[in-house]
Amino acid sequence: MSKKIDLKMAIKRSSSDKKQEKLPRQRKNKSPSPQNNQKESQEILLSREIKEDLAQNEEKIRPHQLKDYVGQKDLKGVLNIAIMAAKQRDEPLDHILLYGPPGLGKTTMALILASEMGVSCKITAAPALERPRDIIGLLVGLQPGDILFIDEIHRLNRVTEELLYPAMEDKRLDVTIGKGQSAKIRSIPLKPFTLVGATTKIGSLTSPLRDRFGLIQRLQFYELDELTEIVLRSANILNVAIDQCGAQEIARRSRGTPRITNRLLRRVRDYVQVKGKNKIDQVLASEALDLHNVDRLGLDWTDRLVLSTIIEQFKGGPVGLDAIASATGEDSKTIEEVYEPYLLQIGFINRTNRGRIATPEAQQHLKI
Ligand SMILES: Nc1ncnc2c1ncn2[C@@H]1O[C@H](COP(=O)(O)OP(=O)(O)OP(=O)(O)O)[C@@H](O)[C@H]1O
Ligand SMILES: [Mg+2]
Repeated sequence: MSKKIDLKMAIKRSSSDKKQEKLPRQRKNKSPSPQNNQKESQEILLSREIKEDLAQNEEKIRPHQLKDYVGQKDLKGVLNIAIMAAKQRDEPLDHILLYGPPGLGKTTMALILASEMGVSCKITAAPALERPRDIIGLLVGLQPGDILFIDEIHRLNRVTEELLYPAMEDKRLDVTIGKGQSAKIRSIPLKPFTLVGATTKIGSLTSPLRDRFGLIQRLQFYELDELTEIVLRSANILNVAIDQCGAQEIARRSRGTPRITNRLLRRVRDYVQVKGKNKIDQVLASEALDLHNVDRLGLDWTDRLVLSTIIEQFKGGPVGLDAIASATGEDSKTIEEVYEPYLLQIGFINRTNRGRIATPEAQQHLKI
């Protein structure tokens, strides 16, 4: 039997998806053809975030080369060396873990790495890798040097994670075939590849997984001048006229986050267009962002709700995350991963082992 067929069988049989195996006969007959199966799994690979991005024309303003990636000097320095060294040796990049709050450019960097290395990038997210065959199919389909980008990598299930260990370390998949005492492990060789993982929660990664990354890099919030540069760059791509002060006003209210910068720019563009003006300046940018309830530090309605809840209902804290979540009606994960990092960064919240505290600066800002 040829190697190709062996491999196919291994992939097919490796699925330990119990639901699938326990399906009643009738349902099983109706199960999709292998082609449909493949199509389905391809579809789930396009994470929700990417679909939204596409819908919003985000791809147009996403930088595609390292030279267009604004800021993150340390990260770019490290990756530039890694790219040059790998190219000189004609080897794939080492596995890279990127972590940091949402919207700082992790996915963008993974795509840039692929384009700089001249390879393809397969994008997926941990929640889409539900069954062993999902990750096996992806790994087996990679060409030499390709990048596999796994977003939200802290959410991998145990089986998928364990399949990744030998894949990352020895370019090998260990697939269990059969069940119980007759179960056998078969090794499938893989082509050399680079795994780029992204996470907003590095602390939730298991150490065996974390330790298999050769480069672990944190993305920082962006400085005002960097965000201003991003506004000017995006405005240019979107064909929107803007002056320096207008760009700074948008940058100042962007919470150190390029995704927010681009979102605010679009809102200001709408405002300016409807007001019949042809150039964004500081006054128009302020008016538009005030209208959207984004204050002069970039805090929105939910940020202010979180802060005022800690200050007013819990006397400034310390208060646990779950208590804040139920008092505000927000999901505790969203508060922890989306809102809190910036409030911590600007010193409006402190984290103690007894819970969160709102600082006097937060009180001053909210005038409570
Ligand atoms: N360094 C940068 N220079 C210019 N634009 C950037 C930069 N980083 C990010 N962006 C812009 O911000 C948007 C969001 O970035 P990206 O999707 O890479 O964030 P992320 O870190 O992957 O977020 P998440 O954790 O939510 O997945 C991109 O579409 C891109 O246009
Ligand atoms: Mg992303």
